[in-house]
Amino acid sequence: MYTAAITGTGVFTPSETITNAELVEAYNAYADKINAENAEAIAAGSFTALPQSSEEFIFKASGIEQRYVMDKAGILNPEIMYPQLRQRDDSEPGIMAEIALDAAKKALKQACKTAEDVDLVICAASNMERAYPAVAIEIQDLLGIKGFAFDMNVACSSATFGIQTAVDMIRSGSIRAALVVNPEICSGHLEWRDRDCHFIFGDVATATLVERIEDAKGDHFEVLSTRCATEFSNNIRNNNGFLRRSRPDGVKDRRDMQFMQNGRKVFKEVLPMVSQHIADHMADEGIQRQELKRLWLHQANKSMNDFIGKKTLGRTPVADEQPNILQDYANTSSAGSIIAFSKYSDDLSTGDLGLICSFGAGYSVGSVILRRHSA
Ligand code: COA
Repeated sequence: MYTAAITGTGVFTPSETITNAELVEAYNAYADKINAENAEAIAAGSFTALPQSSEEFIFKASGIEQRYVMDKAGILNPEIMYPQLRQRDDSEPGIMAEIALDAAKKALKQACKTAEDVDLVICAASNMERAYPAVAIEIQDLLGIKGFAFDMNVACSSATFGIQTAVDMIRSGSIRAALVVNPEICSGHLEWRDRDCHFIFGDVATATLVERIEDAKGDHFEVLSTRCATEFSNNIRNNNGFLRRSRPDGVKDRRDMQFMQNGRKVFKEVLPMVSQHIADHMADEGIQRQELKRLWLHQANKSMNDFIGKKTLGRTPVADEQPNILQDYANTSSAGSIIAFSKYSDDLSTGDLGLICSFGAGYSVGSVILRRHSA
């Protein structure tokens, strides 16, 4: 059995941002437009007027201040309200492969490794831009990696499930190193016309290089243990899929073809599941809460993270113990905990323990316990 380590991470951040103020202004213009078009029906009581969104609500309910996106203009145009991405020829790299490639190159550079050192690419994300060929194989080809690649989707937990998959293969000896990439163009599945959720998501791509620990060239994190769990729930759901045209009204502009959630229920049901999952994982590894130096949590909601941090540590986390990046990036699905890890791990010392945890649709939860090693 080999020991696995995370030796590099990379983050691709889009160049465009949308602040809460810009988002609310666009949504409110859209709501005004719909209400004006339906003025008679609203007066007759057969159409409920769309209420206005508010910056104060968004920040208070989520902690989000802005999000990065691949196309700001389309999202903020009240006549469109979704990102407009250039149609690419099949001979060009797809947009998911392109942003994942940027993150993957950064991860390789940090680890002082090249494509020759890698034999697996896992593209783990909430959405894939096509059914096949796998986006992961395209990324493998663009990087010039020999070996194999595949896509996997466990929604917001995709990164930790991908890391566990890679770690298990490294342990067994079937591969030496894997790139786990998480290109998340969440602006594509978000319903920007729905006030209850239009503020939730942003776009990003992350990459994590997992290798045999003896191959590490610089500072790295030994993977002590991984754990994944799932329980079926319809409270976060998206019905878009390859059978869409076969269903009545399937190709129409149906609300359930985008991200839908019952946010309150998610909050109530996922929090105890995640807190218990982390507690059990740590207990089974014989790790005391006071030994944990850092928690890199999924970045969906500040109150959720505050709750999980407090439950895990048994007290309110002090600054940087449980870093949040959601104020800048919003929820970036599977990439969130990896952005936090990538930006807030360099300062740890040899021997320090930390835990990555992601959670979301499925329901799903994945945790990775790490120990810092200096080169
Ligand atoms: N602006 C102003 N008011 C808004 C609003 C907006 N954009 N969106 C909703 N509201 C209103 C609601 O209509 C509701 O009004 P009411 O009390 O008159 O009915 C009120 O604000 C509270 O809405 P609610 O949806 O209950 O808010 P909340 O405090 O539960 O926060 C979420 C909503 C989505 C932020 C929160 O439930 C959450 O984060 N859940 C978990 C999300 C999550 O992690 N999902 C995982 C995705 S991967």
